[in-house]
Amino acid sequence: MATKVGIIGAGGMLQYHAGGFRAGGADIVAICDVNEAAAGKAAADLGVDNVFGDVGDMLQKLPELDAVSVITPNRFHKPLAVQLLEAGKHVFCEKPPALNAAEVAEMKTAAEAAGKVLMFDFNNRARPESYALMDYIKAGDVGTINSAQAKWIRRTGIPGFGGWFTNKELSGGGPVIDLLHMIDLALFYMGNPEPQHVLAQTFNDFIENKAFKGPWGIPDVADGVTDVESAAHGFVRFKTGQVLSYQVSWAEMNKREEVSVTFQGKKAGGMIRRLFNVDGLDETAVDDCELYVQENGRSVNRSIITEPNEDMGRIRAAQNFVLTVEGEEEPLNTPDQALSLMKIIDATYESASTGQPVSIS
Ligand SMILES: NC(=O)c1ccc[n+]([C@@H]2O[C@H](COP(=O)([O-])OP(=O)(O)OC[C@H]3O[C@@H](n4cnc5c(N)ncnc54)[C@H](O)[C@@H]3O)[C@@H](O)[C@H]2O)c1
Repeated sequence: MATKVGIIGAGGMLQYHAGGFRAGGADIVAICDVNEAAAGKAAADLGVDNVFGDVGDMLQKLPELDAVSVITPNRFHKPLAVQLLEAGKHVFCEKPPALNAAEVAEMKTAAEAAGKVLMFDFNNRARPESYALMDYIKAGDVGTINSAQAKWIRRTGIPGFGGWFTNKELSGGGPVIDLLHMIDLALFYMGNPEPQHVLAQTFNDFIENKAFKGPWGIPDVADGVTDVESAAHGFVRFKTGQVLSYQVSWAEMNKREEVSVTFQGKKAGGMIRRLFNVDGLDETAVDDCELYVQENGRSVNRSIITEPNEDMGRIRAAQNFVLTVEGEEEPLNTPDQALSLMKIIDATYESASTGQPVSIS
């Protein structure tokens, strides 16, 4: 029998979750949004039968739901995920996992108590390039990755002013939290080592400058709050001796938007990169995936050709959730990995505010 899925949040990301759940063979049974009209419109567009404005109501009226995805502003990820897990549902939650590591720990405990799957939408792990690179990494062709550099940098990419993205209470932070994908991807390639120390700095230049607004995002809120960073730079040392440097920005004097992880392994180096022509517009981007090796006394650059994938693995990631619930695939991420990532995010803010390196236990 097909897995029955409900979706909470009828915003920009819904189309990818819906596409992925259906690609995995699931039935989308309900859409719920505090903005019930938005849920109704999405349900009509997608041919979904049930519409709700309240999550408790959905859980009560549809006890047959097996799984629910959470696609709301970040502030609601933890309370909704815990509510759903306690109701015995598998949960697929958008990134960031939550506002901070303490919240992720609560979600992990709730998943363990319920014996249900809890996964996060780290969709970049599901890109064709990531599958290709992981084939080499798993085969031992790269060797231990000593060092990696993770970047998601924009020049003019603030996703609206005064809305939930720029309000720390609702978002947890700016690009450090919104663009955490490449840090996650580097951890994935590096074998999810345990972080030991973080040294980082955040900046808030341009964060209220309308000239730095991106071509996508949510509507501006005139009297809303804008109290997050516009850019951050950091360095992590792991207990294994591996190291990671990272740069994230919505607004910073970069040439153009770049989304990349570069790594140096004991046997080979490599890179996954999306380089944009116009900030935020995926259709203008060029993807590259490469391995760097020494062969027959020469330096050789291998260009790995993968199928085009404009959605950056979003549909495939949601499909992996359904197939994990059904026991057909291994999960692309775990609550432990999300917790470790959020400890790095917390330490980034702590290091920036104290001016000191932060130790992670
Ligand atoms: N994986 C990715 O590539 C990616 C890209 C963009 C956004 N996201 C994440 O997706 C999430 C949502 O982003 P979005 O761009 O779709 O936002 P959005 O603002 O377009 O949509 C959010 C929706 O959630 C609804 N909502 C708010 N609070 C709710 C609640 N308590 N219960 C039910 N519904 C509620 C809102 O009415 C709105 O319709 C965020 O966590 C964001 O970080 C992920």
